[in-house]
Amino acid sequence: MKIIKKINQLNKYISNVSNVGFVPTMGGLHKGHISLIKKSKNISGKTLVSIFVNPTQFDKKKDFLIYPRSLKKDLVKLKKAKVDFVFIPSANEIYFKKRKRKIVINKKYKILCSKFRKGHFEGVLDVIERFIKIINPKFIFFGEKDYQQFFLIKKYFSGKFKTKIILCKTIRDKNKIALSTRNQLLDKSEIKIASLIAKKLISFKSKIRHNIINSNKLNLIKNFINTNYKVKVDYLEIREKNKLSKRFKKNNFKIFIAYHINKIRLIDNF
Ligand code: PAF
Repeated sequence: MKIIKKINQLNKYISNVSNVGFVPTMGGLHKGHISLIKKSKNISGKTLVSIFVNPTQFDKKKDFLIYPRSLKKDLVKLKKAKVDFVFIPSANEIYFKKRKRKIVINKKYKILCSKFRKGHFEGVLDVIERFIKIINPKFIFFGEKDYQQFFLIKKYFSGKFKTKIILCKTIRDKNKIALSTRNQLLDKSEIKIASLIAKKLISFKSKIRHNIINSNKLNLIKNFINTNYKVKVDYLEIREKNKLSKRFKKNNFKIFIAYHINKIRLIDNF
């Protein structure tokens, strides 16, 4: 496994490899990331993982500072997963070149997290575009937990670059909580709440699908979660899966949630 810090060094290793699978991460690796790596190893020639806590996608400085970092442990996991290349650039390396045109997200996509986290997806799109230009991967992999991230990356880049954008299933723990680096920040009682919320929404989705409950009962659930679990829900919404529009059919929707447990913000979709 080659550990690479500089773009020119990276070019030496991968410029002749035509089928690189790229898994972008911000470190704090868990089984969700490993599943993306496995997928990449299945369909790509070589797998490259980046570890870069991208400062421009954090809307609050404090959030950037407390974001879990565990480089040593991450490298052990990547070696075990038989990754070919790990790219660990500095912010200067990535942001050295100024953008010609600012990333602007269309008003119609200023929904869900894009509405609540100012500049977040602009930061994500910026860094992913930079990575795609540097690496020119054949495939790039994203987890379904961050569905809106995948959706926007596909919208903005699938026509612009040859790279195939691949969505991989959310991995949940035994409590049904979607794996996320931020889960490390939760204590026992907070884990319990996150688990209750996930189970409630999984069951609600199944009831909508089987006509047991009407989807307009979602607001009742939102109030229930807000008051009984003492969390602050940013949004709890049902959206059509392919366009993220509000009109959906029973077999083609997702339930999206973002909420704060104390100071930790979690997102999920079902
Ligand atoms: O999902 C993440 O971890 C980040 O948003 C990503 C895709 C690595 C970009 O910084």
